[in-house]
Amino acid sequence: MFNRKITTFKKILDTKNTYKTMATNKVEIFDTTLRDGEQVPGCKLNTEQKLIIAERLDTLGVDIIEAGFPVSSPGDFNSVEQIGKIVKNARVCGLTRAIENDIKVAAEALKVAKRPRIHTGIGTSDSHITYKFKSTREKIIERGIAAVKYAKSFVEDVEFYAEDAGRTDNDYLARVCEEMIKAGATVLNIPDTTGYCLPNEYGEKIKYLKENVKGIDNVTISCHCHNDLGLATANSISGVINGARQIECTINGIGERAGNTSLEEVVMVLKQHPDLNLITGIQTQLLYDTSQMVSDNMGIYVQPNKAIVGSNAFAHSSGIHQDGVIKNRETYEIIDPKDVGVTESAIVLTARSGRAALAFRAKKIGYELTKLELDVVYKEFLNFADRKKEIGDDDIHQIMEVVKNKI
Ligand code: KIV
Ligand code: ZN
Repeated sequence: MFNRKITTFKKILDTKNTYKTMATNKVEIFDTTLRDGEQVPGCKLNTEQKLIIAERLDTLGVDIIEAGFPVSSPGDFNSVEQIGKIVKNARVCGLTRAIENDIKVAAEALKVAKRPRIHTGIGTSDSHITYKFKSTREKIIERGIAAVKYAKSFVEDVEFYAEDAGRTDNDYLARVCEEMIKAGATVLNIPDTTGYCLPNEYGEKIKYLKENVKGIDNVTISCHCHNDLGLATANSISGVINGARQIECTINGIGERAGNTSLEEVVMVLKQHPDLNLITGIQTQLLYDTSQMVSDNMGIYVQPNKAIVGSNAFAHSSGIHQDGVIKNRETYEIIDPKDVGVTESAIVLTARSGRAALAFRAKKIGYELTKLELDVVYKEFLNFADRKKEIGDDDIHQIMEVVKNKI
């Protein structure tokens, strides 16, 4: 029986900013490392560093680079302007609040960009409306419409964010979205600003909008999930399964508080699950290198157990796992390390390693051991390993010296 894949088509803005028809199984990657990511305390980048990172993001294949928040400082304005000049393929985006001057300044900073996008918006949850804006639901919609229309007077591509959409009532959110589409928004960003939603809840929110907002099929729905409960990746994936076609994310998942959705995670989830029939344009073999580059420039180290790009992501230290990986890598690895730019899996020798791992490593540095020889070497290895956390090649040479008269 045939398994028929259903591909639908929608109108999108192409590289020349004219509309064309595109298969809707492409998920656009919107990188906000230089805006939301840079909001991490103590991680300020200078313009030169931002340009290096922007160039790399463009080569990596991201679809949109959020280059900064132009009105926030002259430095940010300059970075957005310079990034707009050098980026060849991606759209370049600047953030604004729903304030006229923010939008005017962003438009000015983006004037030289080949494919500019203005990202404007306002808080829509009752908490934001009551405490932050001391306003009403109706007035918030009016401000949103005015902002989108004003942004539209400068650029064709306008993304609207409904801040704290994760905690916004779905009926009201649907009304907000419908009004923003009428005002001219091309992308609707549904941020889970506080990282509150559960994956099924976030997915249902996107589905609700897909089913209840007039005109929704003519715009792109975007997921912007924060990681306060460690659910940012799961929520973004749930969003695209339910119809969103853009994910906002950062390299290494950096960002305010517990961070943003991690770019490398969502991209690899979609790549490792072809059954989802969703693709991105990311050159995944550049992921590891890009992660290191951002980490070095920002001075934030990557936690060793970080999925995809952590130093332990492809390292095996327990005897049972090492034995499996030596026999066949796929027993304990679902990703080929080369696919993300890591040369090979690592077999780390510790007191929990077995004979198979020791023999494998010894052979790599020139010692071919018989079964009986391995027994003797292994005994000495355990003595070493109890004293040291990790056994390196130098230690193996030393062990061989110690046991050479016994074998
Ligand atoms: O988390 C958020 O809501 C944001 C918006 C400004 C897009 O970063
Ligand atoms: Zn955010």
